[in-house]
Amino acid sequence: MPVTQFDIKEKYRYQNGFGCHFESEAVEGALPIGHISPQKPPLGLRGCTASCRRDGAAYYSADGDLLIVPQEGALDIRTEFGWLLVRPMEIAVIPRGVKYRVGLTAEFVVTCKFNGKLFETRQPHTPFDVVAWQGNYYPYKYDLGRFNTIGTISFDHPDPSIFTVLSAPSPVPGTAIADFVVFPPRWLVGEDTFRPPWYHRNTMSEFMGLIAGAYDAKKAGAGGFAPGGASLHNVMSGHGPDAESCEAAREAPLEPAKVGAGSCAFMFESCLMLGVSEWGLRRCRKVQHGYSEESWGGVRNHWQLPPGKTVKSHLVD
Ligand SMILES: [Fe+2]
Repeated sequence: MPVTQFDIKEKYRYQNGFGCHFESEAVEGALPIGHISPQKPPLGLRGCTASCRRDGAAYYSADGDLLIVPQEGALDIRTEFGWLLVRPMEIAVIPRGVKYRVGLTAEFVVTCKFNGKLFETRQPHTPFDVVAWQGNYYPYKYDLGRFNTIGTISFDHPDPSIFTVLSAPSPVPGTAIADFVVFPPRWLVGEDTFRPPWYHRNTMSEFMGLIAGAYDAKKAGAGGFAPGGASLHNVMSGHGPDAESCEAAREAPLEPAKVGAGSCAFMFESCLMLGVSEWGLRRCRKVQHGYSEESWGGVRNHWQLPPGKTVKSHLVD
């Protein structure tokens, strides 16, 4: 199985798998065997008993799971269930309600995100004093280099849902509250095909970003896509390749071609309309105000009425 060759070496041991039932003991014998809640648990443990320092911060979100996609540097994440070292090209999921901390600081102020607002509470012990646990609800990470990309082997550009890594389905079949999609290095072989994503608009909101390298439908530069950059095409906002990518794809020889070497773009897709915070719109001062013009202002119109043809009117004579 392919894996990413990380510059930052792994330092933790993990339990592998998805949809599995795991358990972990920091102290051997701490978990009851074949029993979830005995009257007198082994080692007398039911809550938190370890002592700790009083400096540090911890967080949890009561609103939903947290999906982390690092683009630069490595995140050392401590959770109630153990540690995760998450590097670019890996993603991590912190489930709803699980307390976590990013970095190496430590004080016992727990910040909770509830209904879109942040609340603080203080406690006299670390939130990470879980001695043992069992269950199937825990944070995890995944090396995107392992993703098995599929695509057309005949013609046309399939819907990008084929690149879905994680999905949180909505009650409406075929739509998702959130899909996490990646565009890793892959072969393009479509015959008689405009190979980049076509110009389109749809009911799904698309928040797209670039972890590393270049994206095959957008070039570098003012109208392009740089690592760390992101675009938001909300419900029914038209978009597609930039002018330069479009012209290159129109003229490209349609031989098998490997695209995206050394790169990985990602997308959050949602059937919901995405709101943008005041910080995201203005205070961050990172918005590309000329985005539309710089991306598509130079798109050429190749349509022309063939000689001898006339336009049929839709009006009754
Ligand atoms: Fe799109």
